This record gives sequence, C-alpha cells and structure tokens, in this order.
Amino acid sequence: MQHVNRDNPIPLYVQIKDFWKRRIESGELQPGDQLPAEQDLCEQHGVSRITVKQAINALASEGLVIRHQGRGTFVASRKFQQDLLRLTSFTEDMSQRGLMAGARLLSKQIVPATSELVKNLGVLEGGKLLCIERVRLANNEPLALETVYFPYDLCPGLLDEDLQSQSVYNLLEQKYGLTLYRAEQFLEPGLATAREARLLQISKGDAVLLIERVTYLKDGRRVEFAKSVYRGDKYRFHVMLERPTLNPSR
Ligand code: GLP
Repeated sequence: MQHVNRDNPIPLYVQIKDFWKRRIESGELQPGDQLPAEQDLCEQHGVSRITVKQAINALASEGLVIRHQGRGTFVASRKFQQDLLRLTSFTEDMSQRGLMAGARLLSKQIVPATSELVKNLGVLEGGKLLCIERVRLANNEPLALETVYFPYDLCPGLLDEDLQSQSVYNLLEQKYGLTLYRAEQFLEPGLATAREARLLQISKGDAVLLIERVTYLKDGRRVEFAKSVYRGDKYRFHVMLERPTLNPSR
C-alpha cells in the first residue's frame, strides 16, 4: 500500500489523512477500531515518521480519531449533533435519537444559596435550594455530568422522586405545574478533572464542554441553574445563523 502521489502538489500528510478519513467516513473502519502503529503507517505509505504524525494530528483535530497514550490511535465515536435553539431536556434529546436516557444519581441535597447561585437564580443569599448531581447516560453510556439547582419553594418534594429513571423537566411540568419557557445557556471548552474523567469514563485532561443553563418560567422567575460537563468526544453543537439585514430601508 502506498496511497501517496509524490507528484501531487497536495502535501503528503494531507493525502494520508484523506486516505484514512475516507476509510472512516465510508464505515470501512468503525468507531473503536485501531489504526496501525506509526511505524507500520510509515512503511505502508512509504513516508517518514514526521509525516505520519502530522497526518494523525490532522485526523485527531477533525475529531475522527482519538489517541490513547501508550495504547495507540483509535477511530472516534460519531458525535451527537445538538441544536442550540430549543429548550429540551436530556431525556427528550436522547429519545429523539432513538436512545434510552438514564441517570446515575451521585447526590441529592438541600443547600443554601451561595453568591454564585444567588446571581444565577435570583434568590436570597442563604435561601433554600435543591441540588441534584447526576451522570447522564444514553443507552447506559455516560455522556454528561450535571449539577442542577432549583429553588426549594418551586418544587419542594423533588428530591423524593426517582431521579435515576425520571425526567426532571417532566416532573417540574407535570407534577409541579411549572411551564419551562426559555433558557439562557453559556458554553465554554474545558479539560476533564480527575473526578469528571472517572465519572464520564474518559481520561483526565480530555476535552469537555462546560455548559451553564438558567431556565426561566413564563412569568420571568428562574427555575433552574444547571452546570454540566459534556464529553467533548461525543457532542457537536449546531446553530443556524442568519445574515442581518444591514440596510433594511434600501
Ligand atoms: C438537560 C439540561 C439540564 C436539565 C436536563 C433535564 O441536560 N442541560 O439543564 O436539567 O436536561 O433533563 P431530564 O428532564 O432528562 O432530567
């Protein structure tokens, strides 16, 4: 096998990257399959180690492969595309994809509002909040770690519910008659801490997405403040952008 053409102006590493990209995208290689070792790739393609490393880096930066220190390079799992326009629950997102949503409950407790929570939920300092920490699962695979706060007065018995198999949004709407209306969400990149990595079954330092959401009721009251850590290897986010009309009068 060579699959590189030295007369082609496209750099060798790009040609090698494209060769493996095609094999991954066609499904010939499946998520979890291992790529040959660097030395074998050098021999197969007749190129230097530096060129192979560049090709693997390019595949990794496109999210097509993942490198595991000391173990090799593997085809990455396909990512979930998550729309950012609709206020949906984890359960709804998963069922739309034909997956079974689940949760592993890590803790549930009543906590006093700290200044961060006061700011995000608009409650009084020291006010009573419910805090639920869960690992969110899709077909039993961990996708996200969620720490969620609700004002106690809005849903006082929430902690007594089965929070492993029930949708919290469904409980808020059906049991407490709260109509979730809109939410403001912030996303930023992060690196998994040792604890997050253990709970999400990834490696410490792997890329994650840190998401904060403040959810509002129709009357403007805030009902939820959620801090989530999503696996970076599993998600990509989607928004449709429209070009603003710069001179509407013309
Ligand atoms: C999403 C949101 C969380 C919300 C959760 C509710 O994951 N990021 O803010 O708490 O959905 O999910 P469910 O109703 O499945 O418990």
